[in-house]
Amino acid sequence: MKKILVVGSLNMDLVTKVVATPKIGETISGDGLQFIPGGKGANQAVAMGKLGARVEMIGAIGTDGNGEVLKDNLIKMNVIADRIKNIAEAPTGVAMIMVNASGDNSIVVIAGANGQLLPEDVVDAWFDDVSLVVCQLETPVETVETVLRRAKALGVKTVLNPAPAKALSNELLSCVDLLIPNETEFESLTGVAVETREDLMMGYQAINALGIKEIIVTLGSKGAWYYNGENFLSVAAKKVNAVDTTAAGDSFIAGVCESLARGASMQEALEMGTKVAAITVTRFGAQSSLPTKEEVAGI
Ligand code: RIB
Repeated sequence: MKKILVVGSLNMDLVTKVVATPKIGETISGDGLQFIPGGKGANQAVAMGKLGARVEMIGAIGTDGNGEVLKDNLIKMNVIADRIKNIAEAPTGVAMIMVNASGDNSIVVIAGANGQLLPEDVVDAWFDDVSLVVCQLETPVETVETVLRRAKALGVKTVLNPAPAKALSNELLSCVDLLIPNETEFESLTGVAVETREDLMMGYQAINALGIKEIIVTLGSKGAWYYNGENFLSVAAKKVNAVDTTAAGDSFIAGVCESLARGASMQEALEMGTKVAAITVTRFGAQSSLPTKEEVAGI
């Protein structure tokens, strides 16, 4: 089977639990501090590796301890990490995360080395033996655009998780085959808030005009919807006791991409993504919460 290529961010997550996120001017106490491997790109790659996919990650880390831990974790989780770039001039990316009593989070990302993955780093060799390339938006947008354009030219299917939400050029969006935003990102790209399937179809028209054929919108506890201009599919979220929603979206995307890469149907892919995310939110942290394929098979 060909590889999945994830091009994206690696962050060390500095995580504390709070009762509620502080208001402006307020000082509160956090309960403990944990250093947990994270970053949207690395979370997606590790989740795919744990599901048994053949996956390579490309990203950038600083020449520091955090970078070493993050790269080691990729390797331990069966992710090919040979082309991770070492940056002497910038620290490894960091995310400061507060998880509140409901399991919801607030995140501040400091890009560090992630900002040094540059368009000129992208070479055709990255796409050898690759069936699917997956990007997010925690590395420079110009690099994401270059990756997607190059993949498209080489006949590799492209997936974009437009997170965190940013303004994107039509040129970039025209290189995306499958877009996987959450509700907020969908609204920021299309101007349409998704409440009903008609909303999804209306927003779809705007992005389909740019060449995107398929879209999956993740809807949190409401599940996820898929549309390709003809077929509408949906999956309900599993009812679980969520302790931390960090990496819920990343794990969903990993389940979808792992399934599609081995030839599963889109409905099966949606169901897989939902199961992976359901387990992830019952555990604390990003990469620390991602399930193995055996655990997913058990629910
Ligand atoms: O999607 C969750 C991730 O967002 C965290 O792991 C954090 O690093 C930020 O990138």
